Amino acid sequence: MKKIGIIGAMDLEVETLKNHMKDVKISKKANMEFLEGTLNQSPVVIVKCGIGKVNAGICVQILSDLFQVTHIINTGVAGSLQAQINIGDIVISDDALYHDMDVTSLGYPLGQIPQIDTFAFRADQSLAMLAKTSCEKVNPDIHVFTGRVVSGDQFISSKEVKNKIIENFHASCTEMEGAAIAHASYLNGIPFVIIRAISDKADDSAEMDYPTFEKKAAEHSARLVEDMVAGI
Ligand code: ADE
Repeated sequence: MKKIGIIGAMDLEVETLKNHMKDVKISKKANMEFLEGTLNQSPVVIVKCGIGKVNAGICVQILSDLFQVTHIINTGVAGSLQAQINIGDIVISDDALYHDMDVTSLGYPLGQIPQIDTFAFRADQSLAMLAKTSCEKVNPDIHVFTGRVVSGDQFISSKEVKNKIIENFHASCTEMEGAAIAHASYLNGIPFVIIRAISDKADDSAEMDYPTFEKKAAEHSARLVEDMVAGI
């Protein structure tokens, strides 16, 4: 029997989904509130994990251990790392990695976690395909891209930092939780996908654009998630 864990970092990323849930049972762990119930007739656990990699990793472990989720979806917003990916567009993860993992001084490639058998955590391909199909259905006017999501404990708001990340990782968007969710899902053998709507361009205009567009962007991502859970 499927049970889908849905994680957002911030209230606005999970608010709409929570409001659309039925038969809700609430429990608390690690200062996070887990809402178990149904969304679009599918069994789900929805949770706001808080910002950053540690919160995200802890959240996945709880979803795995206490709720036995069978799939994980991360919904939210991100900064674009490609000129053709604009504010409001959607990025679905092909894979995910940490842009701030740096053990290069010991000979590892930038981004590589030592002693793990993968460079980037690959999203479940059927979840990614399902997300794309749902997006085209519920957000027909929005461009949807599949690509690499890079995460770090950093809000990227400078052209120089952005360009370095692009040069190093050829990624589509950047945010602060996706790779940790991917990493923890990988360790627990849970299929995952990251779905991010673009709120800014991760450059010098990001500080202005982010507060203006985060709500609209988060809604695009949430609408897609609500549709896709029925297809899992
Ligand atoms: N989330 C949304 N925009 C972001 C950015 N520019 N950097 C990191 N996380 C983000």
